[in-house]
Amino acid sequence: MKKSSRYTPLQIAIHVYAWSALVWIIIELLMGSFSINPIQELEQRTGRHAITLLVMSLLCTPLNTLFKFPELLKRRRTLGLYAFMYATIHVIIFVDLDYGLAWSLILQTIVEKPYIIVGLTTFLMLIPLAITSFDIWKKRLGKNWKRLHQTVYIIGPLAVIHYFMSKKGDFFTFSGDIVRPLIYGLILAIFLIMRIPPIRKYLASLSTRILSLRFRKNSQIKADAS
Ligand code: HEM
Repeated sequence: MKKSSRYTPLQIAIHVYAWSALVWIIIELLMGSFSINPIQELEQRTGRHAITLLVMSLLCTPLNTLFKFPELLKRRRTLGLYAFMYATIHVIIFVDLDYGLAWSLILQTIVEKPYIIVGLTTFLMLIPLAITSFDIWKKRLGKNWKRLHQTVYIIGPLAVIHYFMSKKGDFFTFSGDIVRPLIYGLILAIFLIMRIPPIRKYLASLSTRILSLRFRKNSQIKADAS
């Protein structure tokens, strides 16, 4: 059977959203409307887009459990790959634009700044996931593929910690510009809790009950109308 080549609205929305940050950056660079510290702004924007896409890819499974929308499961890979793309741009900006490829200085910064170590760990852990995200690797790795891709549940929180630390955040004194990283952390925590098997089972059955109730109600309305 011939495979349909039409894009779904969700697919289009994901591609448009993913590219929007880069397009916007290019437009602003051409118009010269960046802040007085353009390199830092570029680092921050690409980092934020990377983490947003990463969190979005992690939300697909729990949202499917809740709303029974299986297309979300097909979109995890695209979102994850876009997250990796922006993380790579983020790292290139850091090593090239920010540090001019001065490797000894970069190494010194890595050693001195714990948030960079966390960012680097996050990035290194993303690489094997991006490489093996294609079907051919799924077949080759078998059960190990799933195990490898479950590391994303460590990568997500690590990215949030990197974000939190980059804002010089202190959880106990609530200092630093930590509201946004805390929101990301909270969303991630809720959706990771939703993945715990008994909670997931409960939510799946609850959602089935709600959907069937709604279906019965709609059929009743139609029957009454006819
Ligand atoms: C080698 C790896 C990495 C390095 C060297 C690095 C470096 C940096 C630097 C220099 C900043 C800017 C701090 C500032 O001046 O405000 C930053 C912020 C950030 N990075 Fe990374 N990063 C790395 C990996 C990652 C990864 C893998 C992600 C996400 C998937 C990420 C997400 C972020 C976020 C969300 C911010 C904060 C943006 C904001 O301030 O709004 N980083 N990172």
